[in-house]
Amino acid sequence: MTRQFIVGGNWKMNGSQATVDSLVQGLNSATLDKSVEVVVAPPALYVAKVAQTFKAGQVAGQNTYCASKGAFTGEISPEMLKDVGAQWVILGHSERRHVFGENDALVAKKVKHALAVGMQVMFCVGETLDEREANRTTEVVFQQLQAVADAIDEAEWAHVVIAYEPVWAIGTGKVATPEQAQEVHAAIRGWLSDKVSAAVSQATRIMYGGSVNAGNCKELGKKPDVDGFLVGGASLKPEFIDIINCQQ
Ligand code: G3P
Repeated sequence: MTRQFIVGGNWKMNGSQATVDSLVQGLNSATLDKSVEVVVAPPALYVAKVAQTFKAGQVAGQNTYCASKGAFTGEISPEMLKDVGAQWVILGHSERRHVFGENDALVAKKVKHALAVGMQVMFCVGETLDEREANRTTEVVFQQLQAVADAIDEAEWAHVVIAYEPVWAIGTGKVATPEQAQEVHAAIRGWLSDKVSAAVSQATRIMYGGSVNAGNCKELGKKPDVDGFLVGGASLKPEFIDIINCQQ
């Protein structure tokens, strides 16, 4: 089973119209590995414009709510993302969990609703440093996975990419070693086989996220269960092109 390599750029709460235009122009004019699926996630205010101007891949929202419309001040719906041309949405990012208090149940509702309206979902899981040091990594990750598995059908997994993002590696420069990443990715794949199906286990792509850069992406990308990257800081820099091309 070959799984298409996928590289996402999570721009988080960074940028302006000018810098977003510059990032898009840089990627549109770059020579990118055509075998790699590229998805960029601008801040919500810029999704519509990037969906119109970005020609080197697809566009994701960084979050949505679990409803189509209504009295949810400040929120956006997956229908709105789709309406402006985005195909993907990142859900369950650790910053949504640990900064904004989203729990597994809410994340699962968001995933279910986004899939129901036809969005592709990057579903983020990962442990904190305390949880890793307490040897609870797989316990935490499996609990996060189970909440979504309880909410969606087997067929819906075809529209989910899992992003393993150890919280202790996000924005810290402390990247997981290729062995650490492979260990958890393999555990996730094994969990999918046990809890969902062998077919879903083999087909589901698992991205690694957490301080990926041009210097570490090649070794990480060689691991058999690393099917791509979800990149934060480095996706705002020219080295994002090197990360996309890391298998060349
Ligand atoms: O979603 C990707 C992000 O959390 C990783 O951030 O800056 O460590 O690459 P960074």
